[in-house]
Amino acid sequence: MTPASKGHALNAQRILLCVGGGIAAYKALELVRRLREAGAEVQVAMTAGAQQFVTPLSFQALSGHATRTSLWDSAAEQAMGHLELARWADRVIVAPATADLLARLANGHADDLVSTLCLATTAPLSVAPAMNHRMWLNPATQANVAALRERGVQVIGPDDGPLAEGESGPGRLREPDAIVAELAAAPVEPKSVAAAAPGGALKGLRVVVTAGPTYEDLDPVRYLGNRSSGKMGFAVAAAAQRQGADVLLVAGPVHLETPAGVKRVDVRSAAQMREAVFAAFPADIYIGAAAVADYTPRVAAASKIKKTGESLALDLVRTPDILSEVAALTQGKLKLVVGFAAETDNVAGYARGKLVAKRLDLIVANRVGIADGGFESDQNAMTAYWADGERDFPSAPKTQLADDLVALIVERLNA
Ligand code: C5P
Repeated sequence: MTPASKGHALNAQRILLCVGGGIAAYKALELVRRLREAGAEVQVAMTAGAQQFVTPLSFQALSGHATRTSLWDSAAEQAMGHLELARWADRVIVAPATADLLARLANGHADDLVSTLCLATTAPLSVAPAMNHRMWLNPATQANVAALRERGVQVIGPDDGPLAEGESGPGRLREPDAIVAELAAAPVEPKSVAAAAPGGALKGLRVVVTAGPTYEDLDPVRYLGNRSSGKMGFAVAAAAQRQGADVLLVAGPVHLETPAGVKRVDVRSAAQMREAVFAAFPADIYIGAAAVADYTPRVAAASKIKKTGESLALDLVRTPDILSEVAALTQGKLKLVVGFAAETDNVAGYARGKLVAKRLDLIVANRVGIADGGFESDQNAMTAYWADGERDFPSAPKTQLADDLVALIVERLNA
């Protein structure tokens, strides 16, 4: 690895890579890897021509995101509309940028996905041209490139050297490592980091967050609990606070430090959590990240339960569903109610079911029981669902996921 891609030169940047239809498209696969190694999150859009050279599936495997190929793909649009994708990007890079693509960008065309994304985005645009040297040197191409430069577009390359047709000259796509180095030399502020700056988008709003497990006492020494660490809820509370919110964190039994500037109430059982939550209202946003026990002993024994029979039956009753009650009782009062769903299977199905049944504005689902994420891990991957949309949050540290989730909450508030 070269110094350019070593470390995290593009840390936390959201890069939209638009792949044009030239033989150098295969090098864009390597570019995705290099961008990710440099710390960027990458989504890929391809022109129809690019798909003649490389498959969308290859980009999907390397980027970890579904590859976008058309303006008219309703399933992809449902997941993230193209304008949303254009907004998502901290920067856009077109590589390889063919002569035709440069001409269309220079003229502001919007007749396919890639040209539309480039026209719609307000993020900095970089282009890495690749074509036959005669096409590159043609005054028409040179005029188009000059027009793009004039508008602040970063032009990366091309390199001089052997070309695909056995000829030689200027027109080779710059090597992926060198492209990463040039991007890193023109820094942009990642929106996820910018959004995390103090005094942000939740200023003046009161946010109640629940986190951690609840413990339901069986007797003075035993309880029913679950494996929640509370890390996600604490990270979300911290992220909301960084956005300027007045945050109250209702925490079950966890071993975590209170995030700076966040008020905290500690509770043990589901009943106590419910009481603390309702005592915290009025509020503007409720985020139920706690893994509340679903059942609690009908009565907690006053003294230690003795080993007598071969088996022991516990008499359990349902706990109050705090989230449903909050959503039902505060209808119209809270601006946004957010739930979490930890599932082992059929994640999307169960999550959407709960979104409707609990009358939530947003639900965040993650698969638990996998090796590299979930309850005790610092890392997770999740998907958020709302009535008419969803968004994937690929595997990332919980602190970053929390910033991204709070950014989505801000978007939904403004929707
Ligand atoms: O139904 P399930 O427990 O999977 O739903 C999870 C969501 O509901 C979480 O947001 C959790 O905080 C909330 N919940 C609750 N009270 C319960 C059970 C779950 O607030 N008794």
